Amino acid sequence: MVVAVDGPVGSGKSSICKLVAKELGFVYLDSGAMYRASAYILQHLNLHIDNLSSALEKTVFTFSDNGGRLSVFIDGKRVDVTNRIRTPEISEITSSLVAKNSAVREILVAKQQEVARMSETEGVSLIADGRDMGTKVFPDAQCKIYLDASPEVRAQRRLKDYQRQGLNITFEQVLTDLVSRDHGDTTRVDSPLVVANGAVVLDTSDMTLEESIQTMVDIITSK
Ligand code: DC
Repeated sequence: MVVAVDGPVGSGKSSICKLVAKELGFVYLDSGAMYRASAYILQHLNLHIDNLSSALEKTVFTFSDNGGRLSVFIDGKRVDVTNRIRTPEISEITSSLVAKNSAVREILVAKQQEVARMSETEGVSLIADGRDMGTKVFPDAQCKIYLDASPEVRAQRRLKDYQRQGLNITFEQVLTDLVSRDHGDTTRVDSPLVVANGAVVLDTSDMTLEESIQTMVDIITSK
């Protein structure tokens, strides 16, 4: 089974999907981490955006569960980019350059579909989150969910993430950044964020993490 989860920044996708995957014994694919790691490569190698897709063809992304936390590596296991891809600067490069680039999207979509093929071969179900999981990457997914929450709630959640990382940033800065990224995600020409056909919309504004996880598990098991 493939569960495709989409939603805007801070809707709780990663936190919820990771724990749902653990509870149901599914593989978890964080597609946003691939876009972020690609932005890291762009910045780190000082590449022009037009040269990123060919660099990505040779890149191997690896995810591993590190005591409940998802570690992200590039080039097999050699470079751990887990923390480096979660900064406001990488978020900005990802949304303003990387996620808009069709050649990059094509390569990352193929890599995401490959993860699904490998899971299927192993007989394990997959839960994948991002912006185009239900519309583009897995249009035939048996279960599609669109996670949402108000901008203020999402900004508050993102602020807590940044504070946990020791970053000095205000609520207003996070909210402004989030509104601008929402705009970028929903208006880009290639694979904009929309509610996929047949998706269940789940608004988590007034839900705790535990309630969101339980609701999602109920939706998935009902399919
Ligand atoms: O989910 P996230 O915040 O980690 O995503 C980072 C960026 O990547 C965000 O700007 C949206 C983009 N993204 C995308 O365009 N398509 C996806 N499938 C996943 C993320």
